[in-house]
Amino acid sequence: MENGPVYLSSFYRHSFFSVLIGNELGYNESQLKDLALGSLLHDLGKGLIPSDILNKPGRLAPHEFDEIKKHPYLGYKILKENSSFNEKILVIPLQHHERKDGNGYPLMLKGDSIHPYAKIVSIADMFSALTTDRVYRNKVSKFVAGEYLIDASNYALDKYLVNVFLYAILRDMKDTWVILSNGEMGKIISVNYKHPTRPKLAIYKGNEFISLKDLTKYPQIFIKDYLK
Ligand SMILES: [Fe+2]
Repeated sequence: MENGPVYLSSFYRHSFFSVLIGNELGYNESQLKDLALGSLLHDLGKGLIPSDILNKPGRLAPHEFDEIKKHPYLGYKILKENSSFNEKILVIPLQHHERKDGNGYPLMLKGDSIHPYAKIVSIADMFSALTTDRVYRNKVSKFVAGEYLIDASNYALDKYLVNVFLYAILRDMKDTWVILSNGEMGKIISVNYKHPTRPKLAIYKGNEFISLKDLTKYPQIFIKDYLK
């Protein structure tokens, strides 16, 4: 159903998305390499979390969540003690669950005290999770996932980086047929940089053109899915 990088296996997808963001930011070869390596290794510490907790469907008990919260530091520690990777790579496993409002873990860092690489991997990781089927829920389209990221950028994710990412993955969606949350169907006319999940649309009923619609003016309507 999905196209482009969304076909990649989930193991590589968040890494692909991370490098995509770094590339949009003009990172050089060495920075992109650090980002790629760090994002591939970001959840290494999960290997030390009991599998019954890690794979438990549904809500975790507080003590189980406390176990999960250990994985960033465990991953960092394994790499620090057993590899020669530099700190810029190690910061990714360590900080990828930090959130800008300070409600992340393990260090409860805030805002710009979180390393940009970790901010990027958080975005890529969340997007990758939302667009992949899980035991407890079905995947959502990249437009719906984009709306989640925008919402999360109010408290957890970096707003600017979320925008850079969403524009990079949605700007080529021009001429794509989409289904709106109100049941209407339309074709994307243009994607704008400021609101990449809210393009201008031509609304159709069957083959008949009905009207133009700028989704930035209809905050209650969103793109549910698109025809591939
Ligand atoms: Fe993680």
